[in-house]
Amino acid sequence: MQESCSSLQQQRYIALLRARLSKKRLTHSMNVAASARALAERWNADADWAYLGGLLHDICKELPFPQQAELMENAVPSACKEEWESKPVWHGIAAESYLRVELGIENRDVLYAVRFHTVGRGGMSRLEEIIYMADLISADRTYRDADHFRKLAMNDLDKAMFEALQYAMDTSLRKGNLIIPYTADAYNHYLRIMNQRKK
Ligand SMILES: [Fe+2]
Ligand SMILES: [Fe+2]
Repeated sequence: MQESCSSLQQQRYIALLRARLSKKRLTHSMNVAASARALAERWNADADWAYLGGLLHDICKELPFPQQAELMENAVPSACKEEWESKPVWHGIAAESYLRVELGIENRDVLYAVRFHTVGRGGMSRLEEIIYMADLISADRTYRDADHFRKLAMNDLDKAMFEALQYAMDTSLRKGNLIIPYTADAYNHYLRIMNQRKK
């Protein structure tokens, strides 16, 4: 489809989101899009594509699980065993397939950013990192460290990713959730970067 994402296309996608999401999740999506744009401007990524990824990342979140599973069957990369066993991550994987097949979006970076926005992966692109962090620091987030992550993401994106992944791993361990191998890979990736800095 498009080589760039015009504001007209953005308006069409917002109308689509309005039909598919609750008011609360639409607000979240708009906030993530705004944060993604700000991070893209800070870290020299394509601000329009960042905005689009932020806008659409949760587009499948309110679908019933059987429909999410149906979309997931066609996702690229396909879901691993642990992802199939972890329903809260399904919506990102389903959204990759929805964006590519139903909306005709071909930008791999955006597709991967949406696909991995919940689990992360080792070797994420700049745009993938931006969507991952934008989801954590959007204006509607009120958890204790939200402001810390807002500042850190603008100052040191690698460190922000490391701390975010550390938090994600820690939460999974505390809650007794499965560790998704993609998430462990992502954690190890940023841990190596942090260790490298100490040398
Ligand atoms: Fe999500
Ligand atoms: Fe989200």
